[in-house]
Amino acid sequence: MALTRMTPSEAAKLIKNGDNVGFSGFTHAGCPKAVPRALATLAEAEHAAGREFKIGMFTGASTGDSIDGALARAQAVSFRTPYQTTSDMRNAINNQQVAYFDVHLSTLAQDLRYGFYGPVDVAIIEACDVTEDGQIVPTVGVGISPTLCKLAKKVIVELNTWHPKELRGIHDLTQIADPPHRQDSGVTGVRDRLGADHIAVDPSKIVVVEVNEPNEGSGFAPVDEVTRKIGENVAAFFVTEMKAGRIPESFLPIQSGVGNIANAVLAALADNPAIPDLEVYTEVIQDAVIDMLESGRVKFASGSSLTVSNPTMDRIYAKLPFFKERVMLRTTEFSNNPEIVRRLGIIAMNTALEADIFGNVNSTNVMGSKIMNGVGGSGDFTRAAYLSIFLSPSTAKGGKISAFVPMVSHVDHNEHDVKVIISEYGVADLRGKSPRQRAEAIIENCVHPDYRPLLRAYLDSGAKGQTPVNLDTAFAFHKAFIATGDMHNAEL
Ligand code: COA
Repeated sequence: MALTRMTPSEAAKLIKNGDNVGFSGFTHAGCPKAVPRALATLAEAEHAAGREFKIGMFTGASTGDSIDGALARAQAVSFRTPYQTTSDMRNAINNQQVAYFDVHLSTLAQDLRYGFYGPVDVAIIEACDVTEDGQIVPTVGVGISPTLCKLAKKVIVELNTWHPKELRGIHDLTQIADPPHRQDSGVTGVRDRLGADHIAVDPSKIVVVEVNEPNEGSGFAPVDEVTRKIGENVAAFFVTEMKAGRIPESFLPIQSGVGNIANAVLAALADNPAIPDLEVYTEVIQDAVIDMLESGRVKFASGSSLTVSNPTMDRIYAKLPFFKERVMLRTTEFSNNPEIVRRLGIIAMNTALEADIFGNVNSTNVMGSKIMNGVGGSGDFTRAAYLSIFLSPSTAKGGKISAFVPMVSHVDHNEHDVKVIISEYGVADLRGKSPRQRAEAIIENCVHPDYRPLLRAYLDSGAKGQTPVNLDTAFAFHKAFIATGDMHNAEL
Protein backbone atom coordinates (compact mmCIF):
# COMPACT_ATOMS: atom_id res chain seq x y z
CA MET A 1 0.00 0.00 0.00
CA ALA A 2 1.39 3.45 -0.94
CA LEU A 3 2.28 5.86 1.87
CA THR A 4 -0.21 8.70 2.47
CA ARG A 5 0.98 12.04 1.06
CA MET A 6 -0.14 15.49 2.23
CA THR A 7 0.71 19.18 2.00
CA PRO A 8 2.31 20.82 5.06
CA SER A 9 -0.97 22.46 6.11
CA GLU A 10 -2.95 19.23 5.71
CA ALA A 11 -0.37 17.42 7.84
CA ALA A 12 -0.42 20.19 10.48
CA LYS A 13 -4.17 19.63 10.89
CA LEU A 14 -3.44 16.13 12.21
CA ILE A 15 -2.18 17.89 15.36
CA LYS A 16 -4.79 18.89 17.92
CA ASN A 17 -4.81 21.37 20.78
CA GLY A 18 -3.13 19.74 23.80
CA ASP A 19 -1.13 17.19 21.79
CA ASN A 20 2.49 16.44 22.61
CA VAL A 21 4.58 16.71 19.47
CA GLY A 22 8.09 15.33 19.00
CA PHE A 23 10.36 17.03 16.45
CA SER A 24 13.36 15.37 14.85
CA GLY A 25 16.80 16.85 14.69
CA PHE A 26 19.51 18.16 16.91
CA THR A 27 20.31 21.89 16.75
CA HIS A 28 19.05 23.21 13.40
CA ALA A 29 20.40 20.03 11.81
CA GLY A 30 17.78 17.46 10.93
CA CYS A 31 14.79 19.60 11.91
CA PRO A 32 11.55 19.68 9.94
CA LYS A 33 10.58 23.17 8.77
CA ALA A 34 7.49 23.32 6.56
CA VAL A 35 5.09 21.36 8.80
CA PRO A 36 6.08 23.27 12.00
CA ARG A 37 5.58 26.59 10.17
CA ALA A 38 2.16 25.36 8.98
CA LEU A 39 1.42 24.36 12.57
CA ALA A 40 2.27 27.90 13.75
CA THR A 41 -0.08 29.32 11.09
CA LEU A 42 -2.81 26.91 12.21
CA ALA A 43 -2.33 27.98 15.86
CA GLU A 44 -2.60 31.65 14.89
CA ALA A 45 -5.84 30.96 12.98
CA GLU A 46 -7.25 29.05 15.95
CA HIS A 47 -6.34 31.88 18.32
CA ALA A 48 -7.93 34.43 15.95
CA ALA A 49 -11.12 32.33 16.02
CA GLY A 50 -11.07 32.49 19.84
CA ARG A 51 -9.99 28.88 20.32
CA GLU A 52 -7.18 27.55 22.51
CA PHE A 53 -4.31 25.92 20.60
CA LYS A 54 -1.09 24.92 22.34
CA ILE A 55 1.13 21.88 22.11
CA GLY A 56 3.76 20.24 24.32
CA MET A 57 7.15 19.98 22.55
CA PHE A 58 9.86 17.31 22.69
CA THR A 59 13.01 17.82 20.64
CA GLY A 60 16.49 16.31 20.41
CA ALA A 61 18.04 19.63 21.43
CA SER A 62 17.72 23.16 20.04
CA THR A 63 15.95 23.60 16.70
CA GLY A 64 15.79 26.17 13.92
CA ASP A 65 13.58 29.23 13.62
CA SER A 66 10.83 27.28 11.83
CA ILE A 67 10.18 25.26 14.99
CA ASP A 68 11.11 27.21 18.12
CA GLY A 69 10.90 30.66 16.57
CA ALA A 70 7.64 30.22 14.64
CA LEU A 71 5.82 28.28 17.37
CA ALA A 72 6.91 30.69 20.14
CA ARG A 73 5.81 33.71 18.10
CA ALA A 74 2.46 32.00 17.48
CA GLN A 75 2.11 31.39 21.24
CA ALA A 76 1.50 27.76 20.34
CA VAL A 77 3.61 26.06 23.05
CA SER A 78 2.55 25.20 26.59
CA PHE A 79 5.53 22.98 27.53
CA ARG A 80 8.98 22.41 26.08
CA THR A 81 11.96 20.20 26.75
CA PRO A 82 15.02 20.07 26.37
CA TYR A 83 17.77 22.60 25.24
CA GLN A 84 16.69 25.59 23.09
CA THR A 85 18.49 28.58 21.59
CA THR A 86 16.16 30.88 19.66
CA SER A 87 15.50 34.32 21.11
CA ASP A 88 11.69 34.09 20.71
CA MET A 89 11.49 30.78 22.59
CA ARG A 90 13.96 32.02 25.23
CA ASN A 91 11.82 35.14 25.80
CA ALA A 92 8.61 33.10 25.99
CA ILE A 93 10.23 30.86 28.61
CA ASN A 94 11.63 33.75 30.63
CA ASN A 95 8.23 35.49 30.47
CA GLN A 96 6.75 32.27 31.85
CA GLN A 97 4.50 31.75 28.82
CA VAL A 98 6.15 28.39 28.19
CA ALA A 99 6.89 25.86 30.94
CA TYR A 100 10.46 24.76 30.17
CA PHE A 101 12.01 21.63 31.61
CA ASP A 102 15.79 21.55 31.20
CA VAL A 103 17.11 17.99 31.21
CA HIS A 104 20.34 16.16 30.28
CA LEU A 105 20.07 15.25 26.61
CA SER A 106 21.17 11.64 27.05
CA THR A 107 18.23 10.87 29.31
CA LEU A 108 15.32 12.44 27.42
CA ALA A 109 14.56 9.53 25.08
CA GLN A 110 14.51 6.98 27.89
CA ASP A 111 12.45 9.32 30.09
CA LEU A 112 9.87 9.52 27.29
CA ARG A 113 9.82 5.73 26.98
CA TYR A 114 9.48 5.43 30.77
CA GLY A 115 6.38 7.64 30.43
CA PHE A 116 7.73 10.41 32.68
CA TYR A 117 6.45 13.27 30.51
CA GLY A 118 3.22 11.91 29.05
CA PRO A 119 2.50 10.46 25.59
CA VAL A 120 4.01 11.45 22.25
CA ASP A 121 0.96 12.03 20.08
CA VAL A 122 2.65 13.04 16.82
CA ALA A 123 6.25 12.94 15.61
CA ILE A 124 7.47 15.18 12.78
CA ILE A 125 10.67 13.76 11.31
CA GLU A 126 12.86 15.28 8.60
CA ALA A 127 14.14 12.53 6.30
CA CYS A 128 16.26 12.21 3.18
CA ASP A 129 14.45 8.99 2.28
CA VAL A 130 11.36 7.02 3.25
CA THR A 131 10.42 3.69 1.72
CA GLU A 132 6.96 2.22 1.22
CA ASP A 133 7.70 -0.40 3.89
CA GLY A 134 8.38 2.32 6.48
CA GLN A 135 12.17 2.74 6.52
CA ILE A 136 12.90 6.33 7.47
CA VAL A 137 16.41 7.70 6.88
CA PRO A 138 16.99 10.92 8.86
CA THR A 139 19.01 13.81 7.45
CA VAL A 140 21.89 15.33 9.44
CA GLY A 141 20.58 15.43 13.01
CA VAL A 142 19.41 12.34 14.90
CA GLY A 143 18.68 13.32 18.52
CA ILE A 144 15.76 11.28 19.84
CA SER A 145 14.06 10.50 16.50
CA PRO A 146 13.95 6.68 16.82
CA THR A 147 12.18 6.95 20.19
CA LEU A 148 9.77 9.59 18.86
CA CYS A 149 8.89 7.30 15.93
CA LYS A 150 8.42 4.35 18.27
CA LEU A 151 6.10 6.18 20.68
CA ALA A 152 4.11 8.45 18.37
CA LYS A 153 0.66 7.46 17.19
CA LYS A 154 1.27 9.34 13.92
CA VAL A 155 4.61 10.02 12.19
CA ILE A 156 4.74 12.92 9.74
CA VAL A 157 7.82 12.48 7.55
CA GLU A 158 9.05 15.74 6.08
CA LEU A 159 10.91 14.32 3.10
CA ASN A 160 13.45 17.03 2.28
CA THR A 161 14.98 16.50 -1.16
CA TRP A 162 17.62 19.19 -0.41
CA HIS A 163 19.44 16.32 1.36
CA PRO A 164 20.66 13.42 -0.82
CA LYS A 165 19.25 9.93 -0.27
CA GLU A 166 22.86 8.74 -0.30
CA LEU A 167 23.15 9.96 3.32
CA ARG A 168 21.88 6.47 4.17
CA GLY A 169 24.75 4.69 5.86
CA ILE A 170 26.12 7.68 7.79
CA HIS A 171 23.85 6.93 10.77
CA ASP A 172 23.89 4.30 13.46
CA LEU A 173 20.27 4.31 14.61
CA THR A 174 20.52 1.41 17.01
CA GLN A 175 18.10 1.68 19.92
CA ILE A 176 18.77 0.82 23.51
CA ALA A 177 16.65 -1.58 25.58
CA ASP A 178 15.10 -0.34 28.80
CA PRO A 179 15.75 -1.77 32.29
CA PRO A 180 15.60 -4.50 33.41
CA HIS A 181 16.67 -5.69 29.93
CA ARG A 182 19.40 -3.14 29.20
CA GLN A 183 22.80 -4.54 28.29
CA ASP A 184 26.23 -3.03 27.92
CA SER A 185 26.00 -0.41 25.11
CA GLY A 186 28.49 -2.34 22.96
CA VAL A 187 30.46 0.76 21.95
CA THR A 188 34.11 0.20 22.85
CA GLY A 189 35.65 2.53 20.26
CA VAL A 190 34.71 5.81 18.60
CA ARG A 191 34.10 4.10 15.25
CA ASP A 192 32.03 1.16 16.52
CA ARG A 193 28.87 0.77 14.48
CA LEU A 194 26.17 -1.37 16.02
CA GLY A 195 23.59 -1.57 13.28
CA ALA A 196 20.55 0.11 11.85
CA ASP A 197 20.91 2.60 8.98
CA HIS A 198 17.20 3.55 9.16
CA ILE A 199 14.31 3.86 11.61
CA ALA A 200 11.73 1.14 11.02
CA VAL A 201 8.15 2.42 11.42
CA ASP A 202 4.78 0.81 10.76
CA PRO A 203 3.88 2.37 7.37
CA SER A 204 0.24 2.82 8.41
CA LYS A 205 1.44 5.45 10.96
CA ILE A 206 3.33 7.43 8.29
CA VAL A 207 2.23 10.53 6.40
CA VAL A 208 4.72 12.01 3.90
CA VAL A 209 5.14 15.72 3.14
CA GLU A 210 7.66 16.46 0.38
CA VAL A 211 9.72 19.66 0.57
CA ASN A 212 13.03 21.09 -0.67
CA GLU A 213 14.58 23.47 1.83
CA PRO A 214 18.12 24.22 3.00
CA ASN A 215 19.20 23.95 6.63
CA GLU A 216 18.61 26.98 8.84
CA GLY A 217 22.12 27.10 10.29
CA SER A 218 24.31 30.16 10.38
CA GLY A 219 28.09 30.34 10.42
CA PHE A 220 30.40 30.94 13.36
CA ALA A 221 31.84 34.24 14.51
CA PRO A 222 35.41 34.71 13.33
CA VAL A 223 37.99 33.72 15.95
CA ASP A 224 38.81 36.85 17.98
CA GLU A 225 41.76 37.53 20.25
CA VAL A 226 40.05 36.15 23.38
CA THR A 227 38.78 32.91 21.84
CA ARG A 228 42.12 32.42 20.04
CA LYS A 229 43.95 32.72 23.38
CA ILE A 230 41.56 30.29 25.10
CA GLY A 231 42.21 27.80 22.31
CA GLU A 232 45.98 28.22 22.63
CA ASN A 233 45.76 27.73 26.41
CA VAL A 234 43.80 24.50 25.91
CA ALA A 235 46.36 23.21 23.39
CA ALA A 236 49.31 24.14 25.66
CA PHE A 237 47.60 22.42 28.62
CA PHE A 238 47.15 19.23 26.59
CA VAL A 239 50.82 19.24 25.60
CA THR A 240 51.83 19.54 29.28
CA GLU A 241 49.49 16.70 30.20
CA MET A 242 50.96 14.48 27.48
CA LYS A 243 54.50 15.24 28.65
CA ALA A 244 53.48 14.35 32.21
CA GLY A 245 52.02 11.05 30.97
CA ARG A 246 48.49 11.96 32.06
CA ILE A 247 47.21 11.92 28.47
CA PRO A 248 48.57 9.09 26.30
CA GLU A 249 50.70 9.96 23.23
CA SER A 250 47.94 8.54 21.02
CA PHE A 251 45.60 10.98 22.81
CA LEU A 252 42.00 10.31 23.92
CA PRO A 253 38.73 11.05 22.10
CA ILE A 254 37.54 14.61 22.58
CA GLN A 255 34.11 16.10 23.07
CA SER A 256 33.65 19.77 22.42
CA GLY A 257 30.58 21.79 23.26
CA VAL A 258 28.48 24.15 21.20
CA GLY A 259 29.17 27.68 20.04
CA ASN A 260 31.95 29.96 18.94
CA ILE A 261 34.39 29.16 21.72
CA ALA A 262 34.23 25.40 21.16
CA ASN A 263 34.72 25.94 17.44
CA ALA A 264 37.76 28.19 18.06
CA VAL A 265 39.33 25.69 20.48
CA LEU A 266 39.18 22.94 17.89
CA ALA A 267 40.87 25.22 15.38
CA ALA A 268 43.67 25.88 17.92
CA LEU A 269 44.16 22.14 18.48
CA ALA A 270 44.46 21.66 14.73
CA ASP A 271 47.16 24.34 14.58
CA ASN A 272 49.34 22.85 17.33
CA PRO A 273 51.77 20.30 15.83
CA ALA A 274 52.43 18.72 19.24
CA ILE A 275 48.81 17.49 19.38
CA PRO A 276 48.39 14.23 17.43
CA ASP A 277 45.56 13.58 14.96
CA LEU A 278 42.38 13.18 16.95
CA GLU A 279 39.20 11.18 17.24
CA VAL A 280 36.06 13.05 18.20
CA TYR A 281 33.21 11.54 20.24
CA THR A 282 30.80 14.39 20.74
CA GLU A 283 27.21 15.50 20.25
CA VAL A 284 27.50 18.33 17.72
CA ILE A 285 29.99 18.11 14.88
CA GLN A 286 30.71 21.75 14.03
CA ASP A 287 32.49 23.38 11.07
CA ALA A 288 35.98 23.15 12.60
CA VAL A 289 35.72 19.34 12.79
CA ILE A 290 34.85 19.20 9.08
CA ASP A 291 37.96 21.27 8.28
CA MET A 292 40.01 18.92 10.47
CA LEU A 293 38.57 15.81 8.80
CA GLU A 294 39.58 17.23 5.44
CA SER A 295 43.08 18.11 6.63
CA GLY A 296 43.48 14.75 8.38
CA ARG A 297 43.80 16.35 11.86
CA VAL A 298 40.62 14.52 12.86
CA LYS A 299 40.61 10.85 11.88
CA PHE A 300 36.99 10.09 12.77
CA ALA A 301 34.04 11.99 14.25
CA SER A 302 31.03 10.47 15.99
CA GLY A 303 28.17 12.77 16.99
CA SER A 304 24.43 13.27 16.89
CA SER A 305 24.40 16.03 14.27
CA LEU A 306 26.30 17.83 11.56
CA THR A 307 25.73 21.33 12.94
CA VAL A 308 27.47 23.19 10.17
CA SER A 309 26.85 26.26 8.04
CA ASN A 310 25.27 25.71 4.61
CA PRO A 311 28.52 26.34 2.68
CA THR A 312 30.14 23.61 4.81
CA MET A 313 27.13 21.34 4.22
CA ASP A 314 27.63 21.86 0.45
CA ARG A 315 31.28 20.82 0.86
CA ILE A 316 30.22 17.66 2.71
CA TYR A 317 27.69 16.72 0.02
CA ALA A 318 30.27 17.32 -2.72
CA LYS A 319 32.51 14.69 -1.07
CA LEU A 320 29.91 12.52 0.62
CA PRO A 321 31.70 9.13 0.26
CA PHE A 322 34.80 10.66 1.95
CA PHE A 323 32.74 11.94 4.91
CA LYS A 324 30.65 8.76 5.23
CA GLU A 325 33.86 6.88 5.90
CA ARG A 326 34.84 9.30 8.66
CA VAL A 327 31.59 10.46 10.30
CA MET A 328 28.87 8.65 12.22
CA LEU A 329 25.60 10.15 13.45
CA ARG A 330 24.03 8.43 16.45
CA THR A 331 21.06 8.93 18.75
CA THR A 332 21.78 11.05 21.83
CA GLU A 333 21.43 7.92 23.92
CA PHE A 334 24.69 6.81 22.32
CA SER A 335 26.47 10.08 21.47
CA ASN A 336 26.05 11.35 25.04
CA ASN A 337 25.96 8.07 26.93
CA PRO A 338 27.88 8.44 30.23
CA GLU A 339 28.73 4.71 30.16
CA ILE A 340 30.52 5.18 26.82
CA VAL A 341 32.05 8.53 27.85
CA ARG A 342 33.70 6.93 30.87
CA ARG A 343 34.78 3.79 29.00
CA LEU A 344 36.42 5.69 26.14
CA GLY A 345 38.09 8.17 28.50
CA ILE A 346 36.71 11.20 26.75
CA ILE A 347 38.20 14.63 27.30
CA ALA A 348 35.19 16.91 27.64
CA MET A 349 35.35 20.63 26.89
CA ASN A 350 32.29 22.76 27.51
CA THR A 351 31.64 26.45 27.93
CA ALA A 352 30.50 28.11 31.14
CA LEU A 353 28.43 31.27 31.50
CA GLU A 354 30.05 31.75 34.90
CA ALA A 355 32.07 29.75 37.41
CA ASP A 356 32.68 30.42 41.05
CA ILE A 357 36.06 30.47 42.69
CA PHE A 358 35.42 27.01 44.18
CA GLY A 359 34.80 25.40 40.77
CA ASN A 360 31.01 25.25 40.50
CA VAL A 361 29.75 26.11 37.01
CA ASN A 362 26.62 27.82 35.75
CA SER A 363 26.02 27.05 32.06
CA THR A 364 22.40 28.08 31.82
CA ASN A 365 20.85 30.85 33.92
CA VAL A 366 21.95 34.48 33.57
CA MET A 367 22.00 36.21 36.98
CA GLY A 368 20.48 33.03 38.39
CA SER A 369 17.09 33.46 36.81
CA LYS A 370 17.02 33.98 33.04
CA ILE A 371 17.60 30.92 30.90
CA MET A 372 20.16 31.29 28.14
CA ASN A 373 19.92 27.91 26.35
CA GLY A 374 19.96 24.95 28.70
CA VAL A 375 22.29 22.31 30.10
CA GLY A 376 22.34 20.40 26.80
CA GLY A 377 24.77 17.51 26.87
CA SER A 378 27.33 19.23 29.05
CA GLY A 379 26.30 17.26 32.14
CA ASP A 380 26.25 13.94 30.27
CA PHE A 381 29.93 14.41 29.48
CA THR A 382 31.20 16.37 32.47
CA ARG A 383 30.67 13.86 35.25
CA ALA A 384 31.72 10.80 33.23
CA ALA A 385 34.72 12.32 31.41
CA TYR A 386 38.37 11.34 31.86
CA LEU A 387 39.04 15.05 32.14
CA SER A 388 36.28 17.65 32.28
CA ILE A 389 37.31 21.13 31.23
CA PHE A 390 35.26 24.32 31.31
CA LEU A 391 36.14 27.23 29.07
CA SER A 392 35.11 30.83 29.46
CA PRO A 393 36.25 34.30 28.50
CA SER A 394 37.15 36.02 31.79
CA THR A 395 34.50 38.70 31.28
CA ALA A 396 31.26 39.32 29.38
CA LYS A 397 29.36 42.43 28.27
CA GLY A 398 32.37 44.62 27.69
CA GLY A 399 34.02 43.72 30.99
CA LYS A 400 31.03 44.67 33.15
CA ILE A 401 30.44 41.02 34.05
CA SER A 402 33.15 38.83 35.54
CA ALA A 403 32.75 35.19 34.49
CA PHE A 404 34.33 34.31 37.85
CA VAL A 405 32.23 35.16 40.88
CA PRO A 406 32.22 34.40 44.62
CA MET A 407 29.29 32.01 44.21
CA VAL A 408 27.50 30.97 41.03
CA SER A 409 23.91 32.19 40.83
CA HIS A 410 22.79 28.78 39.48
CA VAL A 411 24.58 25.41 39.53
CA ASP A 412 24.73 23.05 36.55
CA HIS A 413 28.09 21.37 37.19
CA ASN A 414 29.48 21.17 40.66
CA GLU A 415 32.95 21.32 42.20
CA HIS A 416 33.15 17.52 42.32
CA ASP A 417 33.00 17.17 38.54
CA VAL A 418 34.81 20.23 37.20
CA LYS A 419 38.49 19.35 36.87
CA VAL A 420 40.01 22.23 34.92
CA ILE A 421 38.94 25.79 34.06
CA ILE A 422 40.53 27.73 31.21
CA SER A 423 40.11 31.41 30.27
CA GLU A 424 42.16 33.63 27.97
CA TYR A 425 44.48 34.31 30.94
CA GLY A 426 45.41 30.73 31.68
CA VAL A 427 44.60 27.36 33.19
CA ALA A 428 43.32 26.57 36.68
CA ASP A 429 43.95 22.90 37.37
CA LEU A 430 41.54 22.06 40.20
CA ARG A 431 42.42 18.38 40.56
CA GLY A 432 43.28 17.37 44.10
CA LYS A 433 42.88 20.87 45.50
CA SER A 434 40.86 22.00 48.52
CA PRO A 435 38.24 24.72 47.98
CA ARG A 436 40.62 27.46 49.16
CA GLN A 437 43.41 26.15 46.92
CA ARG A 438 40.97 26.00 44.00
CA ALA A 439 39.96 29.60 44.63
CA GLU A 440 43.59 30.69 44.61
CA ALA A 441 44.26 28.81 41.36
CA ILE A 442 41.22 30.33 39.64
CA ILE A 443 41.92 33.89 40.84
CA GLU A 444 45.60 33.68 39.90
CA ASN A 445 45.18 32.02 36.49
CA CYS A 446 41.73 32.69 35.03
CA VAL A 447 40.20 35.86 36.47
CA HIS A 448 40.50 39.17 34.62
CA PRO A 449 43.11 41.35 36.41
CA ASP A 450 40.43 43.99 37.17
CA TYR A 451 38.49 41.52 39.28
CA ARG A 452 41.37 39.77 41.06
CA PRO A 453 41.56 42.24 44.00
CA LEU A 454 37.79 41.99 44.56
CA LEU A 455 37.82 38.20 44.61
CA ARG A 456 40.89 38.11 46.85
CA ALA A 457 39.10 40.50 49.21
CA TYR A 458 36.12 38.16 49.23
CA LEU A 459 38.31 35.13 49.94
CA ASP A 460 40.01 36.97 52.79
CA SER A 461 36.81 38.40 54.25
CA GLY A 462 36.96 36.11 57.23
CA ALA A 463 34.86 33.12 56.22
CA LYS A 464 36.09 29.93 57.86
CA GLY A 465 35.54 26.21 57.28
CA GLN A 466 36.28 23.83 54.47
CA THR A 467 34.63 26.09 51.88
CA PRO A 468 35.15 29.73 52.88
CA VAL A 469 31.80 31.10 51.72
CA ASN A 470 30.71 34.44 53.12
CA LEU A 471 26.93 34.36 53.07
CA ASP A 472 26.69 38.15 53.43
CA THR A 473 28.57 38.87 50.21
CA ALA A 474 28.39 35.65 48.18
CA PHE A 475 26.18 37.37 45.58
CA ALA A 476 27.77 40.84 45.80
CA PHE A 477 28.95 40.67 42.17
CA HIS A 478 25.47 39.82 40.86
CA LYS A 479 23.77 42.38 43.07
CA ALA A 480 26.18 45.08 41.85
CA PHE A 481 25.44 44.20 38.22
CA ILE A 482 21.67 44.27 38.75
CA ALA A 483 21.84 47.56 40.70
CA THR A 484 24.49 49.42 38.68
CA GLY A 485 25.10 47.47 35.47
CA ASP A 486 28.70 46.74 36.47
CA MET A 487 30.22 44.05 38.70
CA HIS A 488 33.18 46.31 39.41
CA ASN A 489 30.90 48.05 41.92
CA ALA A 490 30.59 44.95 44.11
CA GLU A 491 30.74 45.79 47.82
CA LEU A 492 32.60 43.16 49.76
N1 COA B 1 26.41 36.64 32.35
C1 COA B 1 25.59 37.12 31.39
N2 COA B 1 25.75 36.87 30.07
C2 COA B 1 26.82 36.15 29.71
C3 COA B 1 27.74 35.64 30.64
C4 COA B 1 27.50 35.91 32.03
N3 COA B 1 28.29 35.45 32.97
N4 COA B 1 28.69 34.97 29.97
C5 COA B 1 28.38 35.03 28.67
N5 COA B 1 27.26 35.74 28.51
C6 COA B 1 26.58 36.02 27.25
C7 COA B 1 27.50 36.61 26.19
O1 COA B 1 27.65 38.00 26.38
C8 COA B 1 26.75 36.26 24.93
O2 COA B 1 25.64 37.16 24.82
P1 COA B 1 25.23 37.81 23.42
O3 COA B 1 24.77 36.64 22.59
O4 COA B 1 24.14 38.75 23.78
O5 COA B 1 26.47 38.46 22.90
C9 COA B 1 26.16 34.88 25.24
O6 COA B 1 26.17 34.77 26.68
C10 COA B 1 26.94 33.72 24.63
O7 COA B 1 28.26 33.79 25.05
P2 COA B 1 29.53 33.51 24.10
O8 COA B 1 30.70 34.04 24.84
O9 COA B 1 29.28 33.99 22.71
O10 COA B 1 29.70 31.92 24.14
P3 COA B 1 29.06 30.69 23.39
O11 COA B 1 28.40 31.03 22.10
O12 COA B 1 30.16 29.72 23.34
O13 COA B 1 27.91 30.19 24.41
C11 COA B 1 27.03 29.20 26.41
C12 COA B 1 28.19 29.97 25.75
C13 COA B 1 27.41 28.88 27.85
C14 COA B 1 25.75 30.04 26.40
C15 COA B 1 26.81 27.89 25.57
O14 COA B 1 28.02 27.20 25.46
C16 COA B 1 25.78 26.97 26.21
O15 COA B 1 24.59 27.15 26.04
N6 COA B 1 26.24 25.97 27.01
C17 COA B 1 25.39 25.06 27.75
C18 COA B 1 25.14 23.78 27.02
C19 COA B 1 26.39 23.06 26.63
O16 COA B 1 27.42 23.19 27.24
N7 COA B 1 26.27 22.26 25.59
C20 COA B 1 27.36 21.50 25.04
C21 COA B 1 27.27 20.11 25.48
S1 COA B 1 27.95 18.98 24.37
